[in-house]
Amino acid sequence: MLIKSGEHPANSVPDPDAGALGKRFPGNFVWGVATSAYQIEGAAHEDGRGDSIWDEFCRRPGAVKDGSSGERACDHYHRVAEDIGLIASLGVNAYRFSLAWPRVQPLGAGAWNEKGFAFYDRLIDGLLERDISPYVTLYHWDLPQALQERGGWLDRDTVARFADYAAEVALRFGRRVASIATINEPWVVATLGHEAGRFAPGVKDRKVATQVSHHLLLGHGLALQAMRAQHCPAPLGIVLNQAPVHPATDSAEDLARARLDDGLTVRWYMDPLLLGHYPDDVLGFLGGDAPQVTPGDMATIRQPLDFIGINYYSRNVSGSGAPLAPLAPAREVTDMGWEVFPGGLTELLLRLKADYPLPPLYITENGAAYRDRLDDGRIADAARISYLRRHIAAMADALESGVDLRGYFVWSLIDNFEWADGYTKRFGLVYVDYATQRRTPKDSAHWYQAFCLRARTATGGRSPVTTGQGNAR
Ligand code: FCB
Repeated sequence: MLIKSGEHPANSVPDPDAGALGKRFPGNFVWGVATSAYQIEGAAHEDGRGDSIWDEFCRRPGAVKDGSSGERACDHYHRVAEDIGLIASLGVNAYRFSLAWPRVQPLGAGAWNEKGFAFYDRLIDGLLERDISPYVTLYHWDLPQALQERGGWLDRDTVARFADYAAEVALRFGRRVASIATINEPWVVATLGHEAGRFAPGVKDRKVATQVSHHLLLGHGLALQAMRAQHCPAPLGIVLNQAPVHPATDSAEDLARARLDDGLTVRWYMDPLLLGHYPDDVLGFLGGDAPQVTPGDMATIRQPLDFIGINYYSRNVSGSGAPLAPLAPAREVTDMGWEVFPGGLTELLLRLKADYPLPPLYITENGAAYRDRLDDGRIADAARISYLRRHIAAMADALESGVDLRGYFVWSLIDNFEWADGYTKRFGLVYVDYATQRRTPKDSAHWYQAFCLRARTATGGRSPVTTGQGNAR
C-alpha cells in the first residue's frame, strides 16, 4: 500500500515550512512511528498467547468506554506483512513497538512460547529487510494475568520474573534491534492502574500504587542488569511520560500543588533513575503510603542508561482545588481533551537537561487524537498535521539549545485500541475501518512521509550533540 507522494491532495501544495523544518535536524536523526502490542495485535488467544491484565480488565462491565477490548484490535498479528509495507511507505527509518509478554511467556514464568517469539522474529526481520530499525519496548502494560493473580507488580517476585523475560528477549533479539526499553510509562501503570483504577488492573489504593511504582523501577534496573549479563549489544533504556507542570494561578497554594505534582510525575521517576533517591518532598507528602525500599534497591534502580524515551502529549496544569485539573475550555485541545501546548516540550527538555545527568533522549511518543472522518477515500486531518509540525519545531528548538535528542516517534502508526477509551479515539497517521480492517493513510501520513523523506536527505542539519553521555558502560 505505497503512498504515492504528489498524487494526494495533501501533497498537491508543497509545504515549504516542512522542508525548512527538516533542515533543523541532523541527517542521522531517527524518524519513526510507534504502536504497542495490546493496542494493535489482536489474536489475543491464538498460538498459545496467555491472558494479560488488559484482557481481564476489558471483561469488566464499564471498564472500557465502548465495551470493547484488544481481542481483535487492528488484527496486526495476521496483517504484519501489510503493516510493515505501510510503515515503509511512510518514509520513516524506525518503528517502535512492544512485545506482549503473555505472547512469549503465557504464564509470566516458566515455559517460553515459540510461536509467540516466531511472530516477533517475522516482524523484526521484515522491518530490517525494509531498512527500518526496530525499537522494542518490553512492557507496554500487558502483564500476564497469571502474575496478577499472584499479586502483580505489588509482589516483589514479579520484578524477578520481569528480569528473566528481559534476559530472554535480549538473548533472542538483542543483536537485531536498535534499542530495548524496559517499561513504558511507569507513572501510568502505578497511578492510573493502581491508584485511580482507570486502567488495568483497576486497583484503587495509593499505598499499593507507590509500592508498584517502586517495583516497576526495580524491575527496570534488574532487567537492565539481566540484559547486560547476556552481553546485549542493543542500547538499553526506559520510556517515561513527562510534562512540565504549571500552576493554575499564581497563588501560593497553586504553586505548591504544582511543585508537588511535578514531584509525583517527573521527579518521582527521574530522581531515582538518575540520582539514586526519591524526592524528599514527595516522600514527606506520601507519609505512611511511601514505598518499602529494601537496602540496595536504589542502587539497582540507578543503572547506567543508554537512552531515555520521553512521551510528550501536553503540559499539566495544577491547582490546589483539583490536582492536574482539566483546562479552561477556551484552550486548543485534542479529542482527548488534552491541551495542545508544543512549547511545553521545549521547556521540559531544557529543564531535564539542566537538572539531570541525562543520557541521549528520544521522543518515543507524540501525537494527537482527532475526530477523523473518512470522506470519499480521504481523511483531511489538518489539525493533526499542525500538531505534529509544531511539536517537531519545539523539538528543534530544544536540539538547537543543546539537548541531546536523537529521534522522534509519532503516536501512532494506525488508529488503535486506546485503553479505557476503546476505539473511540483515533491517534493514527493511518485510518482503520475496524469492520473491514482496511487501512487508509490520512493527510497527516502523506505530510509525515514528505517531511521524513526531506528531513532524511537534508544536509543542513546540525551534528548530533555527543556530550553529556549518561552511558557509563
Ligand atoms: C500513552 C501510551 C500509549 C497511548 C498514548 C495516547 O500514554 O503510552 O499507549 O495510549 O498515550
